[in-house]
Amino acid sequence: MSNKKFPDDFVWGAASAAYQIEGAWNEDGKGPSIWDIFCRKPSAIRNRESGEVACEHYHHYKEDIGLMKAIIGLHAYRLSISWSRVLPQGTGVPNPKGLDFYDRLVDELLAAGITPYVTLYHWDLPYELHCRGGWLNPQIPDWFAEFAALMTDRLSDRVNYWMTINEPQVFIGAGYVDGTHAPGEKLDWGGVMRIAHHVLLAHGKGVQAVRAAAKKPVQIGFAFTGMVGLPVSESTEDVEAARQSTFHVSDRNLWRFTWFTDPIFFKQYPAEGVELNHDFMPSIGARDFDIISQPVDFFGLNLYQGHFVRLGTDRLPETVPFPTGHPLTTFSWPVTPDVLYWGPRFLWERYRCPIFITENGLANNDWIALDGEVHDPQRVDYISRHLFALQRALSDGVDVRGYFYWSLLDNLEWAEGVNQRFGLVHVDFPTQRRSLKQSAHFYRHVIKANAVVDAK
Ligand code: GCO
Repeated sequence: MSNKKFPDDFVWGAASAAYQIEGAWNEDGKGPSIWDIFCRKPSAIRNRESGEVACEHYHHYKEDIGLMKAIIGLHAYRLSISWSRVLPQGTGVPNPKGLDFYDRLVDELLAAGITPYVTLYHWDLPYELHCRGGWLNPQIPDWFAEFAALMTDRLSDRVNYWMTINEPQVFIGAGYVDGTHAPGEKLDWGGVMRIAHHVLLAHGKGVQAVRAAAKKPVQIGFAFTGMVGLPVSESTEDVEAARQSTFHVSDRNLWRFTWFTDPIFFKQYPAEGVELNHDFMPSIGARDFDIISQPVDFFGLNLYQGHFVRLGTDRLPETVPFPTGHPLTTFSWPVTPDVLYWGPRFLWERYRCPIFITENGLANNDWIALDGEVHDPQRVDYISRHLFALQRALSDGVDVRGYFYWSLLDNLEWAEGVNQRFGLVHVDFPTQRRSLKQSAHFYRHVIKANAVVDAK
Protein backbone atom coordinates (compact mmCIF):
# COMPACT_ATOMS: atom_id res chain seq x y z
CA MET A 1 0.00 0.00 0.00
CA SER A 2 1.28 3.43 -0.72
CA ASN A 3 -0.22 6.75 0.13
CA LYS A 4 1.17 8.63 -2.78
CA LYS A 5 -0.67 11.63 -4.07
CA PHE A 6 -3.38 11.77 -6.67
CA PRO A 7 -2.87 14.22 -9.55
CA ASP A 8 -3.12 17.87 -8.44
CA ASP A 9 -6.32 18.55 -10.34
CA PHE A 10 -8.03 15.30 -9.30
CA VAL A 11 -11.71 15.88 -8.53
CA TRP A 12 -13.10 14.56 -5.24
CA GLY A 13 -16.86 14.31 -5.11
CA ALA A 14 -19.95 12.53 -3.89
CA ALA A 15 -22.97 11.50 -5.93
CA SER A 16 -26.74 11.34 -5.55
CA ALA A 17 -29.91 11.09 -7.62
CA ALA A 18 -33.09 13.15 -7.44
CA TYR A 19 -35.64 10.45 -6.66
CA GLN A 20 -33.44 8.89 -4.01
CA ILE A 21 -33.11 12.05 -1.93
CA GLU A 22 -35.42 14.91 -2.88
CA GLY A 23 -38.82 13.83 -1.56
CA ALA A 24 -41.42 16.59 -2.15
CA TRP A 25 -42.87 14.27 -4.74
CA ASN A 26 -45.93 16.41 -5.46
CA GLU A 27 -44.87 19.84 -4.25
CA ASP A 28 -44.68 23.10 -6.17
CA GLY A 29 -46.17 21.73 -9.36
CA LYS A 30 -44.07 18.60 -9.78
CA GLY A 31 -45.66 15.92 -11.97
CA PRO A 32 -45.48 12.23 -11.03
CA SER A 33 -42.66 10.04 -12.30
CA ILE A 34 -42.79 6.30 -12.95
CA TRP A 35 -41.15 5.80 -9.55
CA ASP A 36 -43.90 7.73 -7.73
CA ILE A 37 -46.45 5.41 -9.28
CA PHE A 38 -44.43 2.19 -9.00
CA CYS A 39 -43.85 2.64 -5.26
CA ARG A 40 -47.60 2.45 -4.68
CA LYS A 41 -47.71 -1.18 -5.78
CA PRO A 42 -48.01 -3.11 -2.52
CA SER A 43 -45.05 -5.44 -2.92
CA ALA A 44 -42.83 -3.31 -5.15
CA ILE A 45 -40.63 -1.74 -2.47
CA ARG A 46 -39.35 -3.25 0.74
CA ASN A 47 -41.56 -2.22 3.67
CA ARG A 48 -43.78 -0.32 1.23
CA GLU A 49 -41.40 2.60 1.38
CA SER A 50 -41.15 5.24 -1.34
CA GLY A 51 -39.35 8.41 -2.35
CA GLU A 52 -42.31 10.60 -1.39
CA VAL A 53 -40.23 11.97 1.48
CA ALA A 54 -36.81 10.27 1.11
CA CYS A 55 -34.19 12.63 2.61
CA GLU A 56 -36.37 15.72 2.09
CA HIS A 57 -33.39 17.18 0.30
CA TYR A 58 -35.81 19.48 -1.54
CA HIS A 59 -36.19 21.28 1.77
CA HIS A 60 -32.87 20.40 3.44
CA TYR A 61 -30.56 21.16 0.54
CA LYS A 62 -28.86 24.06 2.30
CA GLU A 63 -28.05 21.92 5.31
CA ASP A 64 -26.80 19.16 3.02
CA ILE A 65 -24.55 21.51 1.08
CA GLY A 66 -23.28 22.80 4.41
CA LEU A 67 -22.18 19.26 5.26
CA MET A 68 -20.56 18.84 1.86
CA LYS A 69 -18.62 22.03 2.26
CA ALA A 70 -17.69 22.62 5.85
CA ILE A 71 -17.37 19.08 7.02
CA ILE A 72 -16.36 16.95 4.07
CA GLY A 73 -14.68 19.52 1.85
CA LEU A 74 -16.02 18.12 -1.43
CA HIS A 75 -14.78 19.66 -4.67
CA ALA A 76 -17.75 18.42 -6.64
CA TYR A 77 -21.26 17.06 -6.26
CA ARG A 78 -23.08 14.88 -8.76
CA LEU A 79 -26.83 15.47 -8.72
CA SER A 80 -29.66 14.57 -11.06
CA ILE A 81 -32.63 16.53 -12.28
CA SER A 82 -36.14 15.23 -11.70
CA TRP A 83 -37.54 15.51 -15.24
CA SER A 84 -41.17 15.68 -14.04
CA ARG A 85 -40.32 18.42 -11.53
CA VAL A 86 -39.27 20.72 -14.35
CA LEU A 87 -41.59 19.36 -17.07
CA PRO A 88 -44.60 17.89 -15.26
CA GLN A 89 -45.99 16.43 -18.50
CA GLY A 90 -42.54 15.40 -19.70
CA THR A 91 -42.67 17.86 -22.61
CA GLY A 92 -44.29 21.24 -23.21
CA VAL A 93 -44.89 23.76 -20.46
CA PRO A 94 -42.08 23.92 -17.87
CA ASN A 95 -42.75 24.27 -14.16
CA PRO A 96 -41.12 27.54 -13.02
CA LYS A 97 -40.90 26.45 -9.39
CA GLY A 98 -39.17 23.23 -10.35
CA LEU A 99 -36.61 25.13 -12.39
CA ASP A 100 -36.16 27.56 -9.50
CA PHE A 101 -35.23 24.70 -7.20
CA TYR A 102 -32.33 23.63 -9.43
CA ASP A 103 -31.27 27.26 -9.78
CA ARG A 104 -31.09 27.60 -6.02
CA LEU A 105 -29.33 24.27 -5.62
CA VAL A 106 -26.67 25.18 -8.18
CA ASP A 107 -26.22 28.67 -6.72
CA GLU A 108 -25.82 27.28 -3.22
CA LEU A 109 -23.27 24.73 -4.43
CA LEU A 110 -21.27 27.37 -6.27
CA ALA A 111 -21.36 29.68 -3.26
CA ALA A 112 -19.89 26.79 -1.26
CA GLY A 113 -17.13 26.36 -3.85
CA ILE A 114 -18.54 22.99 -5.02
CA THR A 115 -18.72 22.19 -8.74
CA PRO A 116 -22.05 20.69 -9.81
CA TYR A 117 -21.99 17.67 -12.13
CA VAL A 118 -25.50 17.26 -13.50
CA THR A 119 -27.05 13.98 -14.64
CA LEU A 120 -30.12 14.55 -16.77
CA TYR A 121 -31.74 11.13 -16.48
CA HIS A 122 -31.37 9.05 -13.36
CA TRP A 123 -34.39 6.78 -13.92
CA ASP A 124 -37.38 8.93 -12.90
CA LEU A 125 -39.21 9.13 -16.22
CA PRO A 126 -42.25 11.44 -16.15
CA TYR A 127 -45.30 9.21 -15.75
CA GLU A 128 -47.09 11.09 -18.55
CA LEU A 129 -44.37 10.00 -20.97
CA HIS A 130 -44.63 6.44 -19.76
CA CYS A 131 -48.35 6.59 -20.58
CA ARG A 132 -47.37 7.63 -24.10
CA GLY A 133 -45.19 4.55 -24.51
CA GLY A 134 -42.17 5.75 -22.56
CA TRP A 135 -38.86 4.30 -23.71
CA LEU A 136 -40.69 2.18 -26.31
CA ASN A 137 -41.95 5.26 -28.14
CA PRO A 138 -39.59 6.28 -30.99
CA GLN A 139 -40.28 9.91 -30.09
CA ILE A 140 -38.52 9.61 -26.76
CA PRO A 141 -35.09 10.77 -28.03
CA ASP A 142 -36.76 14.05 -29.02
CA TRP A 143 -38.57 14.35 -25.69
CA PHE A 144 -35.27 13.83 -23.93
CA ALA A 145 -33.53 16.40 -26.15
CA GLU A 146 -36.25 18.93 -25.27
CA PHE A 147 -35.64 18.33 -21.57
CA ALA A 148 -31.85 18.50 -22.07
CA ALA A 149 -32.14 21.80 -23.94
CA LEU A 150 -34.41 23.28 -21.26
CA MET A 151 -31.97 22.43 -18.47
CA THR A 152 -28.94 23.56 -20.43
CA ASP A 153 -30.58 26.84 -21.26
CA ARG A 154 -31.37 27.34 -17.60
CA LEU A 155 -28.15 26.17 -15.94
CA SER A 156 -25.24 26.21 -18.38
CA ASP A 157 -24.22 29.74 -17.45
CA ARG A 158 -23.16 28.04 -14.19
CA VAL A 159 -22.96 24.29 -14.88
CA ASN A 160 -20.15 22.97 -17.08
CA TYR A 161 -20.31 19.21 -16.46
CA TRP A 162 -23.22 17.21 -17.83
CA MET A 163 -24.14 13.55 -18.02
CA THR A 164 -26.98 12.41 -20.25
CA ILE A 165 -28.12 9.09 -18.82
CA ASN A 166 -27.33 6.98 -15.78
CA GLU A 167 -26.83 3.24 -16.15
CA PRO A 168 -29.06 2.10 -19.01
CA GLN A 169 -27.94 -1.42 -18.14
CA VAL A 170 -29.70 -1.24 -14.78
CA PHE A 171 -32.81 0.74 -15.54
CA ILE A 172 -33.59 -1.35 -18.62
CA GLY A 173 -32.69 -4.65 -16.95
CA ALA A 174 -34.55 -4.01 -13.72
CA GLY A 175 -37.35 -1.85 -15.13
CA TYR A 176 -38.21 -3.69 -18.36
CA VAL A 177 -36.71 -7.19 -18.13
CA ASP A 178 -37.30 -8.45 -14.60
CA GLY A 179 -39.76 -5.80 -13.50
CA THR A 180 -38.20 -5.13 -10.10
CA HIS A 181 -37.78 -1.41 -10.76
CA ALA A 182 -40.19 1.15 -12.21
CA PRO A 183 -42.16 0.83 -14.36
CA GLY A 184 -42.18 -2.86 -13.40
CA GLU A 185 -42.49 -4.37 -16.88
CA LYS A 186 -41.34 -7.66 -18.31
CA LEU A 187 -41.00 -7.10 -22.03
CA ASP A 188 -40.10 -9.59 -24.70
CA TRP A 189 -36.47 -9.39 -25.83
CA GLY A 190 -37.29 -7.47 -29.02
CA GLY A 191 -38.93 -4.75 -26.93
CA VAL A 192 -35.91 -4.59 -24.65
CA MET A 193 -33.59 -4.20 -27.62
CA ARG A 194 -35.77 -1.40 -29.02
CA ILE A 195 -35.65 0.40 -25.70
CA ALA A 196 -31.85 0.13 -25.61
CA HIS A 197 -31.67 1.64 -29.09
CA HIS A 198 -33.96 4.51 -28.10
CA VAL A 199 -31.82 5.13 -25.02
CA LEU A 200 -28.74 5.44 -27.23
CA LEU A 201 -30.54 7.80 -29.59
CA ALA A 202 -31.72 9.84 -26.61
CA HIS A 203 -28.13 10.02 -25.39
CA GLY A 204 -26.93 11.26 -28.80
CA LYS A 205 -29.71 13.78 -29.22
CA GLY A 206 -29.16 14.86 -25.62
CA VAL A 207 -25.48 15.54 -26.33
CA GLN A 208 -26.44 17.55 -29.41
CA ALA A 209 -29.05 19.51 -27.45
CA VAL A 210 -26.70 20.33 -24.59
CA ARG A 211 -23.97 21.52 -26.95
CA ALA A 212 -26.43 23.58 -28.99
CA ALA A 213 -28.00 25.28 -25.96
CA ALA A 214 -24.81 25.75 -23.91
CA LYS A 215 -24.01 29.31 -22.93
CA LYS A 216 -20.42 28.45 -22.06
CA PRO A 217 -18.12 25.58 -23.01
CA VAL A 218 -19.42 22.34 -21.54
CA GLN A 219 -17.99 18.92 -20.79
CA ILE A 220 -20.46 16.18 -21.54
CA GLY A 221 -20.52 12.46 -20.94
CA PHE A 222 -22.72 9.74 -19.47
CA ALA A 223 -22.64 7.52 -16.36
CA PHE A 224 -22.73 3.86 -17.34
CA THR A 225 -21.99 0.63 -15.57
CA GLY A 226 -21.29 -2.91 -16.68
CA MET A 227 -19.73 -6.21 -15.73
CA VAL A 228 -15.99 -6.15 -15.15
CA GLY A 229 -13.95 -9.34 -15.27
CA LEU A 230 -11.03 -9.45 -12.83
CA PRO A 231 -8.23 -11.81 -13.83
CA VAL A 232 -7.46 -14.39 -11.14
CA SER A 233 -3.78 -14.05 -12.00
CA GLU A 234 -1.88 -11.49 -14.00
CA SER A 235 -0.84 -13.99 -16.63
CA THR A 236 -1.43 -12.74 -20.17
CA GLU A 237 -4.04 -15.47 -20.66
CA ASP A 238 -6.10 -14.61 -17.59
CA VAL A 239 -5.92 -10.88 -18.30
CA GLU A 240 -7.13 -11.53 -21.84
CA ALA A 241 -9.91 -13.79 -20.53
CA ALA A 242 -10.99 -11.03 -18.11
CA ARG A 243 -10.96 -8.46 -20.90
CA GLN A 244 -13.07 -10.71 -23.09
CA SER A 245 -15.54 -11.41 -20.33
CA THR A 246 -15.87 -7.63 -19.83
CA PHE A 247 -16.47 -6.79 -23.48
CA HIS A 248 -17.63 -9.84 -25.38
CA VAL A 249 -21.41 -10.15 -25.71
CA SER A 250 -21.79 -13.87 -25.15
CA ASP A 251 -25.28 -14.11 -23.70
CA ARG A 252 -28.61 -12.40 -24.08
CA ASN A 253 -28.48 -9.55 -21.60
CA LEU A 254 -27.46 -5.91 -21.70
CA TRP A 255 -24.81 -6.03 -19.01
CA ARG A 256 -21.80 -5.59 -21.26
CA PHE A 257 -20.59 -2.01 -21.56
CA THR A 258 -20.01 -2.59 -25.24
CA TRP A 259 -23.67 -2.80 -26.19
CA PHE A 260 -23.94 0.87 -25.26
CA THR A 261 -20.42 2.21 -25.60
CA ASP A 262 -19.35 0.67 -28.93
CA PRO A 263 -22.18 2.50 -30.72
CA ILE A 264 -21.08 5.76 -29.05
CA PHE A 265 -17.36 5.40 -29.78
CA PHE A 266 -17.28 3.04 -32.79
CA LYS A 267 -20.64 3.74 -34.48
CA GLN A 268 -21.73 0.11 -34.35
CA TYR A 269 -23.10 -2.57 -32.07
CA PRO A 270 -20.59 -5.28 -31.18
CA ALA A 271 -20.63 -7.79 -34.08
CA GLU A 272 -20.87 -10.93 -31.94
CA GLY A 273 -23.82 -9.37 -30.07
CA VAL A 274 -25.59 -8.56 -33.33
CA GLU A 275 -25.17 -12.18 -34.37
CA LEU A 276 -26.42 -13.47 -31.03
CA ASN A 277 -29.44 -11.15 -31.12
CA HIS A 278 -30.07 -11.22 -34.85
CA ASP A 279 -33.75 -12.13 -34.53
CA PHE A 280 -34.35 -9.28 -32.13
CA MET A 281 -32.34 -6.38 -33.50
CA PRO A 282 -34.15 -3.03 -33.52
CA SER A 283 -34.66 -1.27 -36.81
CA ILE A 284 -31.75 1.10 -37.23
CA GLY A 285 -32.22 4.30 -39.23
CA ALA A 286 -29.60 5.41 -41.76
CA ARG A 287 -28.45 8.31 -39.55
CA ASP A 288 -28.85 6.63 -36.17
CA PHE A 289 -25.19 5.89 -35.54
CA ASP A 290 -24.23 9.44 -36.54
CA ILE A 291 -26.58 10.72 -33.85
CA ILE A 292 -25.49 8.18 -31.24
CA SER A 293 -21.76 8.74 -31.80
CA GLN A 294 -21.66 12.43 -30.93
CA PRO A 295 -18.24 13.10 -29.40
CA VAL A 296 -18.25 12.97 -25.61
CA ASP A 297 -15.71 14.58 -23.29
CA PHE A 298 -15.63 11.96 -20.58
CA PHE A 299 -16.69 8.44 -19.66
CA GLY A 300 -18.58 8.34 -16.35
CA LEU A 301 -18.05 4.96 -14.79
CA ASN A 302 -20.20 3.55 -11.98
CA LEU A 303 -18.41 0.56 -10.47
CA TYR A 304 -19.16 -1.37 -7.32
CA GLN A 305 -18.00 -4.93 -7.94
CA GLY A 306 -16.41 -7.31 -10.40
CA HIS A 307 -16.22 -11.07 -10.90
CA PHE A 308 -13.12 -13.27 -11.09
CA VAL A 309 -12.21 -14.80 -14.41
CA ARG A 310 -9.58 -17.18 -15.73
CA LEU A 311 -8.88 -18.71 -19.07
CA GLY A 312 -10.86 -21.96 -19.12
CA THR A 313 -9.72 -25.27 -20.54
CA ASP A 314 -11.83 -24.59 -23.67
CA ARG A 315 -9.82 -21.33 -24.11
CA LEU A 316 -12.90 -19.28 -23.22
CA PRO A 317 -13.21 -17.00 -20.17
CA GLU A 318 -14.45 -18.90 -17.15
CA THR A 319 -15.97 -17.26 -14.09
CA VAL A 320 -14.35 -18.35 -10.85
CA PRO A 321 -16.84 -18.46 -7.96
CA PHE A 322 -16.13 -16.45 -4.82
CA PRO A 323 -14.94 -18.62 -1.97
CA THR A 324 -17.19 -18.97 1.07
CA GLY A 325 -16.46 -16.16 3.46
CA HIS A 326 -15.48 -13.67 0.76
CA PRO A 327 -16.23 -10.14 2.07
CA LEU A 328 -19.76 -9.03 1.18
CA THR A 329 -21.64 -5.77 1.59
CA THR A 330 -25.05 -5.78 3.27
CA PHE A 331 -26.42 -5.94 -0.27
CA SER A 332 -24.45 -9.22 -0.57
CA TRP A 333 -22.27 -7.65 -3.25
CA PRO A 334 -18.75 -9.08 -3.16
CA VAL A 335 -16.05 -6.58 -2.23
CA THR A 336 -13.53 -6.59 -5.10
CA PRO A 337 -11.35 -3.45 -4.91
CA ASP A 338 -9.45 -4.32 -8.10
CA VAL A 339 -12.55 -3.43 -10.05
CA LEU A 340 -11.23 0.14 -9.84
CA TYR A 341 -8.01 -0.98 -11.48
CA TRP A 342 -9.19 -3.34 -14.22
CA GLY A 343 -12.43 -1.49 -15.03
CA PRO A 344 -10.81 1.87 -15.82
CA ARG A 345 -7.82 0.16 -17.46
CA PHE A 346 -9.85 -2.00 -19.85
CA LEU A 347 -12.19 0.85 -20.76
CA TRP A 348 -9.32 3.29 -21.29
CA GLU A 349 -7.48 0.83 -23.51
CA ARG A 350 -10.58 0.29 -25.63
CA TYR A 351 -11.96 3.83 -25.91
CA ARG A 352 -9.20 6.28 -24.87
CA CYS A 353 -11.79 8.54 -23.29
CA PRO A 354 -11.00 10.33 -19.99
CA ILE A 355 -12.73 8.65 -17.08
CA PHE A 356 -14.52 9.88 -14.00
CA ILE A 357 -15.54 7.30 -11.43
CA THR A 358 -19.07 8.65 -11.11
CA GLU A 359 -20.14 6.07 -8.49
CA ASN A 360 -18.45 3.64 -6.11
CA GLY A 361 -19.53 2.89 -2.58
CA LEU A 362 -20.52 0.44 0.12
CA ALA A 363 -23.90 -0.55 1.53
CA ASN A 364 -23.44 -1.18 5.22
CA ASN A 365 -25.53 -1.61 8.33
CA ASP A 366 -24.65 1.68 10.04
CA TRP A 367 -26.20 3.03 13.21
CA ILE A 368 -25.55 5.73 15.79
CA ALA A 369 -23.59 4.13 18.61
CA LEU A 370 -23.95 4.86 22.32
CA ASP A 371 -21.09 7.33 22.07
CA GLY A 372 -23.11 9.26 19.50
CA GLU A 373 -20.78 8.39 16.63
CA VAL A 374 -21.44 6.33 13.51
CA HIS A 375 -18.58 3.84 13.29
CA ASP A 376 -18.21 2.46 9.79
CA PRO A 377 -14.71 1.03 9.51
CA GLN A 378 -15.84 -1.24 6.69
CA ARG A 379 -16.62 1.81 4.54
CA VAL A 380 -13.29 3.42 5.36
CA ASP A 381 -11.57 0.21 4.34
CA TYR A 382 -13.70 -0.16 1.21
CA ILE A 383 -12.88 3.36 0.06
CA SER A 384 -9.17 2.99 0.85
CA ARG A 385 -8.81 -0.27 -1.02
CA HIS A 386 -10.70 1.01 -4.05
CA LEU A 387 -8.64 4.19 -4.13
CA PHE A 388 -5.40 2.22 -3.98
CA ALA A 389 -6.60 0.22 -6.98
CA LEU A 390 -7.50 3.45 -8.77
CA GLN A 391 -4.02 4.81 -8.08
CA ARG A 392 -2.57 1.78 -9.76
CA ALA A 393 -4.66 2.55 -12.84
CA LEU A 394 -3.43 6.15 -12.76
CA SER A 395 0.17 5.08 -12.50
CA ASP A 396 -0.34 2.80 -15.50
CA GLY A 397 -1.31 5.89 -17.46
CA VAL A 398 -5.11 5.55 -17.35
CA ASP A 399 -6.63 9.02 -17.62
CA VAL A 400 -8.85 9.16 -14.52
CA ARG A 401 -10.00 12.67 -13.66
CA GLY A 402 -12.02 12.21 -10.49
CA TYR A 403 -13.85 10.01 -7.99
CA PHE A 404 -17.42 10.42 -6.76
CA TYR A 405 -18.36 8.40 -3.71
CA TRP A 406 -21.89 6.95 -3.81
CA SER A 407 -23.52 8.42 -1.87
CA LEU A 408 -23.50 11.62 0.13
CA LEU A 409 -26.53 10.62 2.22
CA ASP A 410 -28.18 7.36 3.15
CA ASN A 411 -31.13 7.38 0.79
CA LEU A 412 -33.90 5.46 -0.93
CA GLU A 413 -32.15 2.50 -2.50
CA TRP A 414 -34.88 1.91 -5.09
CA ALA A 415 -36.72 -1.40 -4.52
CA GLU A 416 -34.69 -1.92 -1.35
CA GLY A 417 -36.32 1.08 0.28
CA VAL A 418 -34.11 2.79 2.84
CA ASN A 419 -32.74 -0.54 3.94
CA GLN A 420 -29.32 -0.23 2.26
CA ARG A 421 -27.23 2.60 3.67
CA PHE A 422 -24.57 3.88 1.27
CA GLY A 423 -24.05 7.36 2.75
CA LEU A 424 -21.08 9.19 4.17
CA VAL A 425 -23.81 10.86 6.19
CA HIS A 426 -26.25 8.82 8.26
CA VAL A 427 -29.88 9.81 7.91
CA ASP A 428 -32.41 9.00 10.61
CA PHE A 429 -35.44 8.91 8.34
CA PRO A 430 -38.22 9.54 10.91
CA THR A 431 -36.54 12.72 12.17
CA GLN A 432 -34.48 13.57 9.06
CA ARG A 433 -31.53 14.07 11.37
CA ARG A 434 -28.15 13.90 9.62
CA SER A 435 -25.07 12.52 11.44
CA LEU A 436 -21.64 12.29 9.93
CA LYS A 437 -20.17 8.83 9.78
CA GLN A 438 -16.53 8.10 10.56
CA SER A 439 -16.08 7.62 6.79
CA ALA A 440 -17.11 11.25 6.16
CA HIS A 441 -14.27 12.42 8.41
CA PHE A 442 -11.93 9.97 6.74
CA TYR A 443 -12.96 11.21 3.29
CA ARG A 444 -12.28 14.80 4.37
CA HIS A 445 -8.71 13.79 5.23
CA VAL A 446 -8.31 11.99 1.90
CA ILE A 447 -9.51 15.07 0.02
CA LYS A 448 -7.29 17.39 2.02
CA ALA A 449 -4.21 15.23 1.63
CA ASN A 450 -5.12 14.32 -1.98
CA ALA A 451 -3.96 10.84 -1.00
CA VAL A 452 -5.30 7.83 0.84
CA VAL A 453 -4.48 8.60 4.45
CA ASP A 454 -4.34 6.41 7.49
CA ALA A 455 -7.85 6.06 8.84
CA LYS A 456 -6.86 6.85 12.42
C1 GCO B 1 -27.07 2.51 -9.43
C2 GCO B 1 -27.58 3.87 -9.29
C3 GCO B 1 -27.68 4.34 -7.89
C4 GCO B 1 -27.75 3.28 -6.82
C5 GCO B 1 -26.39 2.80 -6.43
C6 GCO B 1 -26.40 1.70 -5.41
O1 GCO B 1 -25.89 2.35 -9.63
O2 GCO B 1 -27.84 1.56 -9.32
O3 GCO B 1 -26.88 4.77 -10.07
O4 GCO B 1 -28.85 5.07 -7.97
O5 GCO B 1 -28.37 3.77 -5.70
O6 GCO B 1 -25.72 2.31 -7.54
O7 GCO B 1 -27.10 0.59 -5.89
